[in-house]
Amino acid sequence: MEHYISIMKHTWKIVICCIIFTGLKECQAANLSFPGNFTIGVATSSYQIEGAWNVSDKAESIWDWYTHSYPENIADESNGDIACDSYHKYEEDIQWLKELGVDFYRFSVSWARILPNGFANEVSEDGLQYYKNLTQALIDNGIEPVVTIYHWEHPKILEDLGGWTNELMVTWYADYARVIFEELGPLVKTFVTINEPESYCAVGYNTTYFAPGKELENMGHYICMHNSLKAHATVYHMYDDEYRSTQNGQIGIVAQCYGWVAGDNVTDDSIERYFQFNCGWVMHPIFVGDYPEIMKTRIANISALQGYPFSRLPEFSDDWIEYINGTADFFGLNHYTSRMPVFDSNEDLGIYTIDSGIIASINESWSLGSAAWLHVVPAGFGNLLRMIRDQYNNPPVWVLENGYPDTGESDDYSRISYYYEYITELLTAFQDDGCNVVRYTIWSLLDEFEWTAGYTQLFGIVGVDFDSSDRTRSAKLSTAWWQEVISTRTLQSVPTANSTR
Ligand SMILES: *[C@@H]1O[C@H](CO)[C@@H](O)[C@H](O)[C@H]1NC(C)=O
Ligand SMILES: *[C@@H]1O[C@H](CO)[C@@H](O)[C@H](O)[C@H]1NC(C)=O
Ligand SMILES: *[C@@H]1O[C@H](CO)[C@@H](O)[C@H](O)[C@H]1NC(C)=O
Ligand SMILES: *[C@@H]1O[C@H](CO)[C@@H](O)[C@H](O)[C@H]1NC(C)=O
Ligand SMILES: *[C@@H]1O[C@H](CO)[C@@H](O)[C@H](O)[C@H]1NC(C)=O
Ligand SMILES: *[C@@H]1O[C@H](CO)[C@@H](O)[C@H](O)[C@H]1NC(C)=O
Ligand SMILES: *[C@@H]1O[C@H](CO)[C@@H](O)[C@H](O)[C@H]1NC(C)=O
Ligand SMILES: *[C@@H]1O[C@H](CO)[C@@H](O)[C@H](O)[C@H]1NC(C)=O
Ligand SMILES: *[C@@H]1O[C@H](CO)[C@@H](O)[C@H](O)[C@H]1NC(C)=O
Repeated sequence: MEHYISIMKHTWKIVICCIIFTGLKECQAANLSFPGNFTIGVATSSYQIEGAWNVSDKAESIWDWYTHSYPENIADESNGDIACDSYHKYEEDIQWLKELGVDFYRFSVSWARILPNGFANEVSEDGLQYYKNLTQALIDNGIEPVVTIYHWEHPKILEDLGGWTNELMVTWYADYARVIFEELGPLVKTFVTINEPESYCAVGYNTTYFAPGKELENMGHYICMHNSLKAHATVYHMYDDEYRSTQNGQIGIVAQCYGWVAGDNVTDDSIERYFQFNCGWVMHPIFVGDYPEIMKTRIANISALQGYPFSRLPEFSDDWIEYINGTADFFGLNHYTSRMPVFDSNEDLGIYTIDSGIIASINESWSLGSAAWLHVVPAGFGNLLRMIRDQYNNPPVWVLENGYPDTGESDDYSRISYYYEYITELLTAFQDDGCNVVRYTIWSLLDEFEWTAGYTQLFGIVGVDFDSSDRTRSAKLSTAWWQEVISTRTLQSVPTANSTR
C-alpha cells in the first residue's frame, strides 16, 4: 500500500512537471485500454494445484518424490499431495474462470498421470479422462484451453534413467506429446511445449533446490537445456508435419526472462550479455539460430581455463541448429522481476567464477512481496519487451505468466498495484514502441503449492483455504478488480484501503 501511494504521488509529480514544461499534449498518461484483439487469461500448473498424487494408476513424478524424500527442502515442509485438490474440484475452478470472464485458461498436463510407466506403451484411461473432462468443460463454458505439455514434472522412472541429462528424453517426451496431440489436440488450438526450461535446468540440475535436485559439475544445466531444446523442436516439427493441417493450432515454448533497469555500472554491454545468458539461452536457438555467440565463447574459454578438454556448453551440429531454428509460432514470455546487471569486477583480476561474468544486483529500495527474488520493478518489463522486439524481429509476444506473491491476504492491494504498474508498462510498450504483445496471462488463478516455497508464497487472484479439507476457494479484492478489467478491457485504478468494497 505504501508503495502504491508513493508511486501515485510520483506519477502526479511527473504529470504536473510535464504539463509545466512541455504542454498538455505530450503528457497524457498511457492509454489504459487493451487493443481489440488482445486476449487475457489465467494460468496454473498441474503439480501446483491438482493434488490426487496417487489416485488411480498415476505414477510418482519427480516432484512427488522430491517433496516426500526431502521435506526439509520445502519452506513449510509441505507438498502437493492435495494442493488445491483441483483434480476433484476442476468444475468449481471453471466457475471461477467464468466469473472472471477470462478468454483462456493455461493449465499443464501431468506426464505421470497419463503415462504411468513414463513411456507410451501404457496410457492411463483415468488420467486422460481427467484432462478430456477439463478441456471439454472449458470449451463448453466459452474458455479457450491453452495446454502446457511439460511444466517441470516427469515420471520418476525417467529421472532414474537420467532425466533431462539423457538425450533419449527427447524421444520419450515426443512419444508423450503425441498422446496429447492425439487425445486432446482435436479440442485444443494452443500448445506450449515446455515451461521455463532455464528454471528447472539451472535449479534442478545444477543445485539441490528444485527436483530432481542434482548438482552436476556446473554443467548439468547446460546438458538439460540442450536436450530440452531438442525435445521442444522435435515436438514442434511433429505438430507441424502431422497435426497442424487438421488441428489448425499454434505451438511454442515459454522462457522466463528477467528485465533490467539503469544503475551504477549498468551499461548497454552488460545488459546485452545479461539478456543473452538468460532469455537468449532459450530463445536465440529458436528465433535466430544456435546459442548466443557470447555464451559459446565465454563458456568455452572458462571451461578451458578450468582444464576441461571440452566446453561445458554442448555444441549443436549444423543439422540441429537448422532443425531448432524457427520452431515457435509465438514468443512465450513469463516475466516477474528485474535486476541491475553489472560486469563482475573480479574478472579484471583474472578470476572467472561466473560463466556470464554478470552480477545481477538489486536496489534495496525496491519493494518485495513474500518472495525474496521478486522485486517490483515495472520499468524493467518495458525494457525487456523492447529488447525482444529488437533482438527477434518483433515476434508476436504472448505473456504467459506475470504475477505477485503475498501470504494469502484477501485485501491484496499490493497485488493489484503490481498488476496495474506492470500492465501500464505493457500497454505503453505496445502503443508507443510498437511491441507486438497480443496476449496476457495472470499467474495465477489460485493460491497454490509454490515449489520450494511450499504454501508461503501465494500468487492467486482467488484464495484457497489449505486448512479446510474441502480446500474452500474465496474471492480476494483482486478477483473483482480483474473482473472489471476484463469486462471493460481497460485497466482500472487501484482501490485504496478506505474506499468501499
Ligand atoms: C486506446 O487504445 C485502444 C486500443 O488500442 C483504441 O481502440 C482507442 O482508440 C485508444 N484511445 C485513445 C483515446 O487513443
Ligand atoms: C491486432 O490488431 C492490430 C491493430 O489493431 C494489428 O496491427 C495486429 O496485427 C493484430 N494482431 C493480431 C495477432 O491479429
Ligand atoms: C495416497 O497418499 C495418501 C497420502 O497423501 C495416503 O494417505 C493414501 O493411503 C495413499 N493412497 C493409496 C491408494 O496409496
Ligand atoms: C469425467 O467426467 C465424467 C462425467 O461427468 C465423470 O464420471 C468422471 O468421473 C470424470 N473423470 C475424471 C477423472 O474427472
Ligand atoms: C551452477 O553451479 C555452480 C556451482 O555451484 C555455480 O558456480 C554456477 O553459478 C551455477 N550456474 C547457474 C547457471 O546456476
Ligand atoms: C536505489 O534507488 C534509490 C531511490 O530510487 C536511488 O536514489 C538510488 O540511487 C538507487 N541505487 C542504486 C544503486 O541504483
Ligand atoms: C562500479 O565500478 C567501479 C569501478 O570498477 C567500482 O569501484 C564500483 O564499486 C562499482 N559499483 C557498483 C555498484 O558495482
Ligand atoms: C535461422 O532462420 C532464419 C530465418 O529463416 C535465418 O535468417 C537464419 O539465418 C537462421 N539461422 C541460422 C543460424 O541458420
Ligand atoms: C576467448 O578466448 C579467446 C582466445 O584467448 C579471446 O580472443 C576471446 O576474446 C575470448 N572471448 C571471451 C568472450 O572471453
